[in-house]
Amino acid sequence: MSSVNQASIKEAAEYIRRQHDVKPEVGLILGSGLGVLADLMENAVSINYQDIPHFPVSTVEGHEGELLLGTIHGRSVVLMKGRFHMYEGYGPELTAFPVRVMKELGVQSLLVTNAAGGINTSFEPGDLMLISDHLNMTGKNPLIGPNDPALGVRFPDMSEAYSRRLRQLAKEIAVSQSVVLREGVYAGLLGPTYETPAEIRMLRTLGADAVGMSTVSEVIVARHAGLEVLGISCISNMAAGILDQPLSHDEVMETAEKVREKFLGLVMAIIPKM
Ligand code: 6GU
Repeated sequence: MSSVNQASIKEAAEYIRRQHDVKPEVGLILGSGLGVLADLMENAVSINYQDIPHFPVSTVEGHEGELLLGTIHGRSVVLMKGRFHMYEGYGPELTAFPVRVMKELGVQSLLVTNAAGGINTSFEPGDLMLISDHLNMTGKNPLIGPNDPALGVRFPDMSEAYSRRLRQLAKEIAVSQSVVLREGVYAGLLGPTYETPAEIRMLRTLGADAVGMSTVSEVIVARHAGLEVLGISCISNMAAGILDQPLSHDEVMETAEKVREKFLGLVMAIIPKM
């Protein structure tokens, strides 16, 4: 069985608590190229993932493997700079383990961000998309196995996975900042290959507006734990077959760099009100 149990969650949380006296209320998970938010935290303490008991160690993003505790506009937060993906070889319950640790630390709402490919042809690279709902296309679920009732119910309701209240809040703040915020359905796949054009046509038919390789297992565990969730995708590129050009991770990182200001302005204003 997996190493995800109450004892390991508590040990990880206990270690984190000893590093800082901040008691986080909001959890933040930052996707590829969006980690700059960490630089805007006040009173921040950084903890390497490798030092936290039972934490997986990130294999791809190298430098992006730190948990930060601190405040943003007066709000106590715990922030993951870099996340764990199933394409790295972790099971879904391990990729979502930090979410359970956040809950144990006292977090009540979670902001998840990611870089995603645009499937909706009215989107453009650089757009921000509020996640209204998701399609779990990974074929996996982090809640498979015996259910620990202390962590949540056996059959969690997913009819409002992404909080209506937080979506409304994000929209109002976007309007006040004259930031265009798209809204749509995020399809989460395993990766690490990007999709074929045929797969993108399939996903569009199924109702997806954007596609990525993260987020769904974290959100499932967050809902299981009773956290309120807000999700924002940065459309870093159009998905395969839409434009006549190949996809590259470099493009994903370049676009994230370009939307940085817009993304930070929006998220920084949302956090105190979450
Ligand atoms: Cl096009 N697909 C997936 N699966 N993940 C992505 C992406 C596309 N663009 C950025 N991340």
